[in-house]
Amino acid sequence: MPRLTEIAHSAVRAVLTNGEVAIDATAGNGWDTQFLLECVGRQGHVFAFDIQPQALAATAARIGDVPNVTLLARNHAELRNAIPTKYHGRIGAVMFNLGYWPGSDHAITTTPPSTLAAITAAWELLRDGGILTILAYTGHPGGAEEAAAVEQQLRRLGNNVAMEAIEGQASTKSAPRLWIVRKCPLSATEEQSGTLNYGA
Ligand SMILES: C[S@@+](CC[C@H](N)C(=O)[O-])C[C@H]1O[C@@H](n2cnc3c(N)ncnc32)[C@H](O)[C@@H]1O
Repeated sequence: MPRLTEIAHSAVRAVLTNGEVAIDATAGNGWDTQFLLECVGRQGHVFAFDIQPQALAATAARIGDVPNVTLLARNHAELRNAIPTKYHGRIGAVMFNLGYWPGSDHAITTTPPSTLAAITAAWELLRDGGILTILAYTGHPGGAEEAAAVEQQLRRLGNNVAMEAIEGQASTKSAPRLWIVRKCPLSATEEQSGTLNYGA
């Protein structure tokens, strides 16, 4: 089975097109920011959030001097206000990689209140057909509770949702989980609404 990060990238790559705008809600070391920049190309733009300035410095070091990225040292709960209104409803992809920054204090993690607020805002900002990926880790304190809260929140998104849930290392209790969520045009949702697939 490929790594969940690779599965998330494949799903986003299939949806996000050159020239679009995308959001990395948890920049960390910048792997997802770098990936999103590759997808949107020079004509697109990526907004990347992290509450830890050191993480954004690591992201900046990874991506180098590129003009079409905005690094935001802000809580992703402020996502709606932080993204210019001209992009609302036009975002092609939003990626979350929850938990702690591997290079720092592991006590600084994403938490349900801000994560859930950010997911709600991200969903509103996505275009029809846009994609949201959320990778959650359940092995650290609070991780399993956060993953459960995310799943509940995703079930409440509405009826224009096509969703797949993939669990890594199904034999362990602390398996990471990936949700891949597509925003369907309202007219095309009946068959896909509420689909949850724990197959992988
Ligand atoms: C698992 S790491 C992300 C890894 C990253 N996607 C990469 O490619 O390296 C999670 C990151 O989320 C950040 N974070 C935690 N709470 C946050 C919040 N409320 N808003 C934005 N970032 C947050 C942490 O500082 C940490 O860098």
